[in-house]
Amino acid sequence: MSATNASPALDARRYFEAVSGRDSVAEAPPVCLYLEVTNRCNLLCETCPRTFEALEPPADMSMELFRRIVDQVPNVARVVLHGVGEPMLVKHLPDMIRHLKQPGRGASGRGTHVLFNTNGTLLAPRKHREIIDTGLDELRVSLDAAEAGTFLKVRGKDMFDRIVRNVSAFTNLQAATGAAAPVVSLWLTGLKETVDQLPEFVRLAARIGVREVHLQRLVFDEQGFGMARPDSSLFEQTRAEEEAVIADAQAIGRALGVTLDASGATEPGLSLKRTADDKPWATCRRPWSLMYFTAHGRALPCCIAPFSARGYENYTLGDATQQTLRDIWNSPAYQGFRTALLSDAPPKPCQGCGLRWSL
Ligand SMILES: C[S@@+](CC[C@H](N)C(=O)[O-])C[C@H]1O[C@@H](n2cnc3c(N)ncnc32)[C@H](O)[C@@H]1O
Ligand code: SF4
Ligand code: SF4
Repeated sequence: MSATNASPALDARRYFEAVSGRDSVAEAPPVCLYLEVTNRCNLLCETCPRTFEALEPPADMSMELFRRIVDQVPNVARVVLHGVGEPMLVKHLPDMIRHLKQPGRGASGRGTHVLFNTNGTLLAPRKHREIIDTGLDELRVSLDAAEAGTFLKVRGKDMFDRIVRNVSAFTNLQAATGAAAPVVSLWLTGLKETVDQLPEFVRLAARIGVREVHLQRLVFDEQGFGMARPDSSLFEQTRAEEEAVIADAQAIGRALGVTLDASGATEPGLSLKRTADDKPWATCRRPWSLMYFTAHGRALPCCIAPFSARGYENYTLGDATQQTLRDIWNSPAYQGFRTALLSDAPPKPCQGCGLRWSL
């Protein structure tokens, strides 16, 4: 694709702001890639579709496919190295990060902004130095609980203490060596069952040297699965005491130097409220700003779709093993998806966006 796809002034965390016009044809190449480096996992989270069905046959993305994809967008601003699966299971993950961070790549030659979410179980101290040395920008640890009992209930295995030890050792090494990157954050998926953990979660973050906490919006499909179902969702049904818990956690964060925000909004409370718009999916800019590839090279519209609709064949937009990214990006399938997204009859995965959860 064109080598002029990322503006040097672009904040990699607000990559979607690069999108101006939205039509069936995307004028500019994607500024962000989501690469599912594996679909394998060692946890059984109650909120994750992977726990309930095999989405594709188990696989890691090969280094060859990874290079084939990323080398077609050398100036991409942001690369997210996870999909549905645990990225730290992949032996060549450090090679992937190094490939993206090599000098001369990316906007203004500083390299692409690279991050991934991890369940933290494999963040063993012997790997810490190597991870820091890859140049990774962000390391997001999905912990979902402030103590072991709730962790077991939500994430399916008794590994809370190990993860907390791992993260603590990582931030200790960073402090001891003055390594500012990667920025480490803790993530808690917003569930009615666990939102009361938030104040203690913020305290835990402060204790283990983490300065960012994020409340992740819960995404689920029409039928729901595990704990990802309408009655567990905080969206549009936060009770006064739950809102008070969030406000309390923010106040604790301010006192301890920990920021608390929500995916999609700086204010956690705001991300849980419906906007006045009667077709909120139509504000989405993802099909103009990012591409998502599974471990097998299947192109999907975004990272929300695997959680919001079943059956990848219903929203597959291309195949990176057979087509170039340029061909996929403005293929009839992609153009049709964009046209539908802007209409009153959005594609299946988009139908609940902004309605069952916020964008
Ligand atoms: C699918 S995981 C893949 C990366 C890694 N295995 C992990 O757990 O961080 C990506 C993110 O989705 C979150 N997640 C799991 N179930 C979710 C749901 N139903 N809605 C929103 N996010 C969810 C996880 O907590 C994690 O932060
Ligand atoms: S959320 Fe992450 S750790 Fe949990 S089952 Fe899904 S991929 Fe695995
Ligand atoms: S599922 Fe949601 S986030 Fe994904 S393209 Fe559709 S509207 Fe956008």
